[in-house]
Amino acid sequence: MSKQQLRVAVVVGSTRDGRFAPVVTQWIKGHLDQRDDMGVDVVDLGETPLPTVFPAFGQPPAPGTGEALAAVSPRLAAADAFVFVTPEYNHSFPASLKNAIDWHNEQWHAKPVGFVSYGGISGGLRAVEQLRLVMAELHATTIRNTVSLQHAWGLFDEEHTMKDPECDAAAKAMLDQLAWWAQALRDARTVRPYAA
Ligand SMILES: Cc1cc2nc3c(=O)[nH]c(=O)nc-3n(C[C@H](O)[C@H](O)[C@H](O)COP(=O)(O)O)c2cc1C
Repeated sequence: MSKQQLRVAVVVGSTRDGRFAPVVTQWIKGHLDQRDDMGVDVVDLGETPLPTVFPAFGQPPAPGTGEALAAVSPRLAAADAFVFVTPEYNHSFPASLKNAIDWHNEQWHAKPVGFVSYGGISGGLRAVEQLRLVMAELHATTIRNTVSLQHAWGLFDEEHTMKDPECDAAAKAMLDQLAWWAQALRDARTVRPYAA
């Protein structure tokens, strides 16, 4: 990743055994890999599990927590932008993703978040609408265009290649908007550090 490139952390929200998430993640990573303006770091919460018990206010975290966070937090802090890859679970997003969001704060500030969601008929849109509210609380900017994969498992062939050109077009549109915001906010943070 070059210094000029925008650093994009792709946060993989599902940690479920047998999850579909890797197929969607590889597809959007392929789009990012084709771009000269962005470098990608896949932060897969299935490979970097975080504890679900938070310390009491003012108390140190439980043993082992620091090591778990060390695998995730610096990578979020280094990112100029995020792409959340999220399924829809019961009309929302997975608890694993909320847990990772809640463990962090400044890492999200004044940065853009784009969404790639998947699910049944809704394509994960209800998960994304809830994530927009959550990320606003964390001083993040969410990208208007979203990538929503309806019945996602039918959109890829046996080699996990996307079959629907409209989804590829949606991914490009979302990433173009993400790049604009990531550059604009990186420039702004450089001139004047964001004060929450
Ligand atoms: C606990 C649970 C709840 C789900 N609820 C919904 C839902 O509300 N809407 C939907 O479209 N799909 C729902 N699904 C289907 C998932 O979107 C689908 O199984 C998807 O592949 C899950 O992502 P993953 O395989 O990466 O974990 C649900 C799946 C699970 C496991």
